[in-house]
Amino acid sequence: MEATIVLLPGDGIGPEVTQAAVAVLETVAEMFGHTFHMQEHLIGGVALDVRGHPLPDDTLQACLEADAVFLAAVGGPRWDRPDLPMRPEQGLLALRKAMGVFANLRPVRVFPPLVHASPLKPDIVKGTDFVVVRELTGGIYFGPRQEPTQGRAYDTMVYTEEEIARVVRMAARVAMQRGKHLVSVDKANVLATSRLWRQVTERVVAQEFPQVVLEHLLVDAAAMHLLRRPSTFDVLVTANMFGDILTDEAAALAGSLGMLPSASLGETRNRHGFPRGLYEPVHGSAPDIAGQGIANPLAAILSAALLLRHSLGLEKEARAVERAVEQALEAGFRTLDLAVEEEPVSTRAMTRAVVGMLRGAVGG
Ligand code: IPM
Ligand code: MG
Repeated sequence: MEATIVLLPGDGIGPEVTQAAVAVLETVAEMFGHTFHMQEHLIGGVALDVRGHPLPDDTLQACLEADAVFLAAVGGPRWDRPDLPMRPEQGLLALRKAMGVFANLRPVRVFPPLVHASPLKPDIVKGTDFVVVRELTGGIYFGPRQEPTQGRAYDTMVYTEEEIARVVRMAARVAMQRGKHLVSVDKANVLATSRLWRQVTERVVAQEFPQVVLEHLLVDAAAMHLLRRPSTFDVLVTANMFGDILTDEAAALAGSLGMLPSASLGETRNRHGFPRGLYEPVHGSAPDIAGQGIANPLAAILSAALLLRHSLGLEKEARAVERAVEQALEAGFRTLDLAVEEEPVSTRAMTRAVVGMLRGAVGG
């Protein structure tokens, strides 16, 4: 297969973990006989510095023409300044919106070798394997707002039936391929948007996915249940902000935020007939460790695996990458964020370990 992949390294540890994803994609291309045309573009704080805008036109254009987009991270304290015209994060939100990727799939899986890396008891995290489907282009991150003006500011949460229905459909489809158990998370005891969310979710699942078992949880309770009984979840679907918060929490189950990949999908197809997705590690730019070569590249590598699976239809290749990550962990490789007793390895050493496992498995 021939595919065009846009790379958006962005800020902080972004460039370091992008290198890791590229190394893995190049290995996959070589071993499985594919051609990936990878082109880098600017986004976020670095784009703001160089081009005066966090999402320059040529970056957006390239993303809309690509088969898939890989984005590492945006933002950092350097751009936390009210005098700047825009924030780096606005580039990312605008890109998600422009690509129409309304569903953000965040798989949370505890790799067996990392059961002890979690701050939670091994008995609790063992066997955890669920997917959070976060609504990504609506809700309070996109509603009418007023920046602080005379001691007052506001953000607004708005949802339409259609916005809810399409993300619930996506989540129900994911559930159909897994355990057919969907938990919808909202705050229906307080928020009007959540009451609409519940109605629409009930209807879509009853009419279109009768085999899916649907349950509702209030977001505050969900935050607790995720820590008390994480292994009982299969698929969760929730609004933009709730999903943002719950997936950082869920990262503690997997041992580190450095382990969580994500795939953002919509209805637009690429030239191969697959969804044109946006793939991002869930971790941010981690400015405190940027440039030191110690960041965990696994979330970026696992995001590359999701890209192969969802946007290029390369399931065998995606599995090979996921297996290689697991083998590197089984062999004892740990970056600083994961190390319990092990001597931590660098970003590059972890990447080399994964690439080595991949070559070994495919026989190269
Ligand atoms: C995420 C991040 C982003 C978000 C930020 C950087 C805008 O936290 O992808 O979870 O809130 O969506
Ligand atoms: Mg977040």
